[in-house]
Amino acid sequence: MNFEPEAESSELKKAESAPDCEIKLSQWEGLCDWPIVFGNPNPLEIEIGCGRGMFIIKSARENPGMNYLGIEMSARFFRMLKERVKKSATQKNIRIIKGEAGFVLKKFVPGNSVAAVHIYFPDPWPKKRHWKRRLINSGFVESVRCALVPGGQLCMATDFQDYFDEMLLAAGACSGLEQIARQECAPHETEPEKAATSYERKYLIQGRVIYKATYRKVK
Ligand SMILES: C[S@@+](CC[C@H](N)C(=O)[O-])C[C@H]1O[C@@H](n2cnc3c(N)ncnc32)[C@H](O)[C@@H]1O
Repeated sequence: MNFEPEAESSELKKAESAPDCEIKLSQWEGLCDWPIVFGNPNPLEIEIGCGRGMFIIKSARENPGMNYLGIEMSARFFRMLKERVKKSATQKNIRIIKGEAGFVLKKFVPGNSVAAVHIYFPDPWPKKRHWKRRLINSGFVESVRCALVPGGQLCMATDFQDYFDEMLLAAGACSGLEQIARQECAPHETEPEKAATSYERKYLIQGRVIYKATYRKVK
């Protein structure tokens, strides 16, 4: 970002005059109608747990013909995300929801309506007694499968090998999904500057291996 006073004030003006990017669940009854939400019929991708928004903002900027929905549960990260989305020039094709992803998927996302779901570095809950708090399990994967259009993709990444194993088990047990890619990325193979998310960048700098998998909805 350019911090010269003129550029900064034009960023602020853009943010102040932009329409609201937040979908407030209290104001929405039943399933979301994406063409009404975005004002166009373009395909929709969802990012769950966007954190500061690096992935969703970059994706929306690079793909103006797509729509993007971010779901973020933490109040602190949601505030940062909202500010960044408001200041970016991509607002037209991004909406964000503050909420718990499993609940939002079940209550507000119509079946067969999402081209891709991205989940990067979900909270790992490293202690074994906390594993039940992990987001990705077979029930959650089934909610993602329902939301995807046929051929739609579920893309996941983590730096925790045991969580990755759980992700593979949950997605592998879902008969409506097939694996189309799986990667173990050693830190020296990827430049931190090319990371897709803030956490990926942080973990590459720390020298951690990153595990990635992509599934496609077949039914
Ligand atoms: C470790 S951070 C990763 C952030 C970002 N994806 C990245 O790679 O930089 C995990 C994020 O997921 C959010 N999160 C965790 N569980 C969630 C849930 N059930 N629904 C929505 N967001 C969730 C957390 O608040 C946090 O912002």
